[in-house]
Amino acid sequence: MYDLAIRGGTAVLGDAVVRCDIGISGGRIAAIAERIEAAAQVIQADGLLVLPGGVDTHCHIEEPLPEGGVQEESWESASRSAFAGGTTTVVAHVPQFKGGGLLEQHRAARERAARGMLDHGFHQIVADPSEAAMAEIPALVADGVGSLKAFLTYDSLHLDDAGFLAVLQAARRHGLMVHVHCENFDAIRLATRTLIEAGCTAPKYHAVSRPPVVEREATHRAIALAELVGQPIQIFHVSCAEVAEEVARAKARGVNVSAETCPQYVTLTADDMDRPGFEGAKFMCSPAPRSAEEHGRVWDMIRRGVLDVITSDHCGFSYEGLRGKGKHGRDAAFDVIPNGIPGLAARLPVIFSEGVSKGRIDLPAFVKLVSENPAKIAGLYPRKGAIAVGSDADLVLWDAGRQVTITNALMQHAIDYTPYEGMQVTGWPAATLRRGEVVMWDGAVTARPGSGQWLPRGPGADRA
Ligand code: URP
Ligand code: ZN
Ligand code: ZN
Repeated sequence: MYDLAIRGGTAVLGDAVVRCDIGISGGRIAAIAERIEAAAQVIQADGLLVLPGGVDTHCHIEEPLPEGGVQEESWESASRSAFAGGTTTVVAHVPQFKGGGLLEQHRAARERAARGMLDHGFHQIVADPSEAAMAEIPALVADGVGSLKAFLTYDSLHLDDAGFLAVLQAARRHGLMVHVHCENFDAIRLATRTLIEAGCTAPKYHAVSRPPVVEREATHRAIALAELVGQPIQIFHVSCAEVAEEVARAKARGVNVSAETCPQYVTLTADDMDRPGFEGAKFMCSPAPRSAEEHGRVWDMIRRGVLDVITSDHCGFSYEGLRGKGKHGRDAAFDVIPNGIPGLAARLPVIFSEGVSKGRIDLPAFVKLVSENPAKIAGLYPRKGAIAVGSDADLVLWDAGRQVTITNALMQHAIDYTPYEGMQVTGWPAATLRRGEVVMWDGAVTARPGSGQWLPRGPGADRA
């Protein structure tokens, strides 16, 4: 007798797309069979796809800000948003501020995340690899942190080559993954000063200040230094093909590097930041969105397997709020407008629609990009990212034919806008199950705050 049976759906099981029933007991998948009879509860999934819950390994949720306070998206609101969009697991960031430590931030982040409903892990940002900070890494590892995050740009976070090498060496010593934001800090600073001195301050100049070459250079450097140290890395948010080419070349050399892109790099453009008034701030993220022609080239890189995962880089800055895009006023220069856009709920629908519905990728490829590969790189597979006996019963019942116009209300986040407002998508989550519990049904999120689980990630986990 199973706790629950999902009957009659079409499940994506690795490379196979199979009509089957799924039996769930104790929050895990207990059986996959042509017919499952004995179950205390039954959900009929006829006409629906059954996919593993989305795994979003690049999120910023309730993250402390350098100037004090935390980002506007709480763990509870982020959980609602994630479930609304079919995502059940996230890996979010814990900051380090220059001169500060790691452990104190980690403990506070664990407390905040425990108030949410998402199963979660953390990337520990290292912004200041001081001796004291690095000495705290073993305690983080013991608590289940599986990765370090390095930024090669941003005033408050960037590492120089010596700092980045120190992070790579520490990760190698402790068996951790390293994720990198690749843009050249000094080049962006020079371009930004030149633009501002010339009076070019509007949001659209954000893209001008950080063209693809600054991303390509930093990506090349990050890969070269990781290769030198012999440390696996993942390049975060690849925005364009010339950057992906650096990854392709490294993979061909046998370097242990993976790469992610995000929905914004196949849907938004630099022209979105040129909307009237301050509106362009809604599309400001780093790296900057490129051009419509670039979207096709990014899809080519996805199909070639150069880009392994698609995450949201969800970053909760509102348009109107006091901690949001306009916190320095509507006339603020582009360099002080917070970077980052919300995308937790939109990620699966946008990528399914642009990818599967438009015939660019098939269903197994979609699942690999948004669930299986992120789970593998995070060391969470096969507990997460798979429909398999023994895996957590994190499932999305997906209506592949449903046509929806994206609105901010559908995103169910705490942010007052979505950059995807008005976008027509084909394919939408009908229900989300987290560890066998229905947490979203037809848009209604029912999970209990505090029900999310910490996911300890072992060092040396399978990162294939
Ligand atoms: O603009 C972005 N991407 N903001 C979030 C922080 C980061 O760089 O990942
Ligand atoms: Zn970044
Ligand atoms: Zn990010």
